[in-house]
Amino acid sequence: MCGSRRTPASLFPFQNASPIIFFEMSAAKNSDKNVVKKIESLRDEIRHHEYRYYALDDPEISDGEFDKLMQRLLDLEASHPELVTPDSPSQRVSGAPSEGFVKAAHSSPMLSLDNTYNVDDLRDWERRVHELTGRTDIEYVCELKLDGMSLALQYEDGRLVRGLTRGDGTVGEDVTSNIRTVRSIPLSISKDKLKKAGIPPNFEVRGEMLMPLASFRKMNEEQEAKGLKQFANPRNATAGTVRNLDPNITAQRRLDYFSYMLLHDGRTFFDRHSKTLDALDQAGFKVNPARTLAQNFDQVWSFIEKEEQLREKLPYEIDGIVVKVNRTSLQDELGFTGRAPRWAIAYKYAARAGITLVEDIVPQVGRTGKLTPVAHLKPVFIGGTTVSRATLHNMDEIERLGVKIGDWVEVERGGDVIPKVTRVVEDKDHPRGHKAFHMPEKCPVCGTHVVRTEGEVDYRCVNANCPAKLRETILHFASRGVMNIEGMGDALVTQLTERGLVKNVADIYKLTKDDLLSLERMGDKSAQNVLDEIENSKKLPLERVIFGLGIRFVGERTAQFLAEHFGSMEHLMNASEEELQQVDEVGPRIAKSIIEFFAEASNRKLIERLQSAGLTFTGKKKERGTKLAGKVFVLTGTLANYSRDDAKKMIEDAGGKVTGSVSKKTDYVIAGTDAGSKLDKAKELGVSVIDEKEMEKLLV
Ligand code: IVH
Repeated sequence: MCGSRRTPASLFPFQNASPIIFFEMSAAKNSDKNVVKKIESLRDEIRHHEYRYYALDDPEISDGEFDKLMQRLLDLEASHPELVTPDSPSQRVSGAPSEGFVKAAHSSPMLSLDNTYNVDDLRDWERRVHELTGRTDIEYVCELKLDGMSLALQYEDGRLVRGLTRGDGTVGEDVTSNIRTVRSIPLSISKDKLKKAGIPPNFEVRGEMLMPLASFRKMNEEQEAKGLKQFANPRNATAGTVRNLDPNITAQRRLDYFSYMLLHDGRTFFDRHSKTLDALDQAGFKVNPARTLAQNFDQVWSFIEKEEQLREKLPYEIDGIVVKVNRTSLQDELGFTGRAPRWAIAYKYAARAGITLVEDIVPQVGRTGKLTPVAHLKPVFIGGTTVSRATLHNMDEIERLGVKIGDWVEVERGGDVIPKVTRVVEDKDHPRGHKAFHMPEKCPVCGTHVVRTEGEVDYRCVNANCPAKLRETILHFASRGVMNIEGMGDALVTQLTERGLVKNVADIYKLTKDDLLSLERMGDKSAQNVLDEIENSKKLPLERVIFGLGIRFVGERTAQFLAEHFGSMEHLMNASEEELQQVDEVGPRIAKSIIEFFAEASNRKLIERLQSAGLTFTGKKKERGTKLAGKVFVLTGTLANYSRDDAKKMIEDAGGKVTGSVSKKTDYVIAGTDAGSKLDKAKELGVSVIDEKEMEKLLV
């Protein structure tokens, strides 16, 4: 996994040497022209990939490949120091701010961490700490190295006034409106609470924003259902979400923030790092509980080993452990190198990647009929599990990787459910394969024609009754966030559908114990458990049933809005396109898809059967006022007295609708401080712009 894109310092060869002197370009004349050319072209290549990664949040290569490019540049620069220039990608802390956000200076530089990858390097670091401080009785704090993006939060009078990304370390992007939507970030803290925690009213917190794996998976599922691009891993998804220009989107994608630093006037406030963490905790910030105070190296090492075992069970990704000298006075004594503190170090866990052979590439048909090419691999052990399948996503990805059957590939196991192929490996031990993969013209499961809609990357089977779709539909219906039928996983659903016992989701509710007992690996107790689970699922609320139906573009959130708006399946089924579009976040595309679903006689029959089976068909209609009925609002900037969520809720409760972008259909734009491009757009289109006070008046 990547070190340099997040921590270029780790690879920087001069970090402990005296300041770098930039030679005049004339010095370069003495160097071999080929080397000059090579360095320049490497820099261009790295800049390109930095841009893809940081500015677009859409990397083209894996972190490991990027590290290798950077390492090559560093090696070349180390042997030709006369060619190091200030604008070389090796010379900066991290990433370029993306356009569209206001930039603001940090109170003190946001630095990076040096990395170590083995116990010897970690001991070397400790030795240096001993040498530089002249003591050996050093106390350390060990924390998880969370794999997200670092963010600084500035508080004045206990109120959150600004959130900044790291940017280039000196200047970050102001993402206040976005991060205000993250629940683990307190918007204000009472004087009393701050006092109890020993924190002054004006302070800054630094920490890591991350996307929990469950949110990441859900978000990617929704992206897929909407036909949008999926994110490569939770870290990219976090960056993409924090930098999204629409805070409504940030709010939907559940992010989490863990704090690990407290500054006052740009300096560490408490005399021990452990006190900082406890105080942050006490003040209501989220501080990661997996941390320890270590009195010596052995205790540091046991923490590292223990947490590596627990890594698999965490609900978010980590890529190592951070070891910090506890005493602030010693931290000050140790100081910084150019871009990282000497008082802290990251120990990186081994990348969860491996090299293996692509034995075959097989298209897999999903719930929506989408054909996903899956690489069938020679089983390889990666980070605690045997991997024998990896997704290749689509034909564009196969082309980009240039992968063929018989190739050796690198496989990475990150936050994604299915591991993915990151590159083709080619050397004398790993010869290239020759058999190219082509998408079949017919569905491998039902033989119906496969189509690729113009402008779309995906190929789909168009047969509504394709057995593969049925299998996936049943799996979706029974899965955890939907009807929660524990035990109805892959193996059982495959048997049920292959034997014709379940031809649609309603058939689940007519299964008998004998049906289940006739299946392989099914004893009396398991059969009874499954039946109990099926029975329990009937009690789940209406929104789950709506979600379970698998209507295209209707994800969990939309299902919830639909249930709240209509209050019953009957009302939803009979709603017109216009009525559907009144529902939060339902636009013409989703409305049309819902209409099409319910227009199908077989679907209406299915719903009748689900109703007779006793599933929940009514819910609590969210009573909405009518004061703002039909009115469309857009929120922009920071409101003084309400969070965005609160303002949105108030408008919706009064019957209004809040959307993310300004158009001719917008009735009002509510502008707070620091309103951005939406305000300009409103003026351009002649949409009424009101402030918070005027919004309050509309509501009463
Ligand atoms: S302390 C001055 N503690 O790792 C150093 N960083 O690779 C401040 N990170 O930029 C960083 N977990 O984004 C610190 N427990 C932790 C961390 C952590 C993740 C990130 C952070 C930093 C990067 C360096």
